[in-house]
Amino acid sequence: QPLDFSGVWRFRELFPFAPEESIVTIGEGQTILQNSAAVASYVGVQHGNLFLQYEGLNPSGSFKDNGMTAAATHARMVGAHVAACASTGNTSASLAIYASSTKAFRTVVFIGSGKIAFGKLSQALDYDACTVQIMGDFDDALARVREVSSERGIYLCNSVNPFRLEGQKSIMYRVLEGLGWEVPDWIVVPGGNLGNSSSFGKALAELKQLGLIDRIPRLAVINAHGANTLQQLYNEHHVRWNNGNVPLETINRFYAEMDLNSRRADTIASAIEINRPVNLMKCLRALETCDGVVRDVHDQEILDAKAQVGAGGFGCEPASAASVAGARLLRAQGVIAPSDRVVCILTGHQLKDPDATVAYHSGNRDMFESKLARRGVTETPFRNM
Ligand code: F0G
Repeated sequence: QPLDFSGVWRFRELFPFAPEESIVTIGEGQTILQNSAAVASYVGVQHGNLFLQYEGLNPSGSFKDNGMTAAATHARMVGAHVAACASTGNTSASLAIYASSTKAFRTVVFIGSGKIAFGKLSQALDYDACTVQIMGDFDDALARVREVSSERGIYLCNSVNPFRLEGQKSIMYRVLEGLGWEVPDWIVVPGGNLGNSSSFGKALAELKQLGLIDRIPRLAVINAHGANTLQQLYNEHHVRWNNGNVPLETINRFYAEMDLNSRRADTIASAIEINRPVNLMKCLRALETCDGVVRDVHDQEILDAKAQVGAGGFGCEPASAASVAGARLLRAQGVIAPSDRVVCILTGHQLKDPDATVAYHSGNRDMFESKLARRGVTETPFRNM
């Protein structure tokens, strides 16, 4: 039966690694760019100039499906029996849906204990993935799954997998398509493991090389303050791509100075609660390609921005709202001008982490104290009433 190539794979000439008959697809990538007047006001740019790319509308509810369709395709091409990932939740939900719907391979997902939003955990369980809880956080889980995968010949689906990043390039193609191929001034994206930002840089560099765009938009990568390794390396230690010549010792020295071994990442935006981003080097390259900037935003700013996105009729999970909070910060700093055209990537669906949303809006004391207050979130709509 003919496959539907209307989403990610209609751009397959721009990542031509798979024969058509190998493609594993479940209708991912049918997302569109939408204008938001409400978020434009909040960010402080002219009406008509703020666009949201809502990747929560993918089959598993996050942007990961753009990449997982490509990883699942490659896994099938190489005859993988078992695929694995570590995850803060969305990667595992995405891998699990591809495994269960296509039966192409079995799946094991590694998650940090207590480090996953319930909506996402419920997906991995419901899609029948073998779910392994690791004592520790995402960084520990990723280190473990990398070891286990290489020992046992298991196909690894984290964003170290280059095929995943190829699929995620399609997000940029859809953004540009939504703008009639008029290049925006800014692409603003949350930064966790830095796969998206890396893949966007590659997509844009290739489009320029192919003559499909005449200039490259600027990239803003937004960390949560409690997981701001990139922000520190880039803005405080001035680490740059430098033709790939960033000595590992330099990075490790900064990691030691930043006390990453004893300090755990901590943010309400659990999807991006990551200390050691695996795609650091690729992201540095993307930042160079795209004349990029890096910022970090506090959990209060993330939840306030998320509420604005919701009130504007979209809705997203906390990590996604870091893009909007970051755009607002860059506008306030005068880096983004009011006349700039800005695209914020909303990476995950509103229903992924309902606990954080309810705690913020309802002011439920127990939930509020346990989830928000200790992270410095003190202002909620409820408390202001
Ligand atoms: N937004 C959401 C909703 C995410 O789930 C993630 C990453 C990011 C942003 C960060 O993207 O890693 O490309 O910089 N989630 C991973 C996971 C780590 O396991 O689901 P990135």
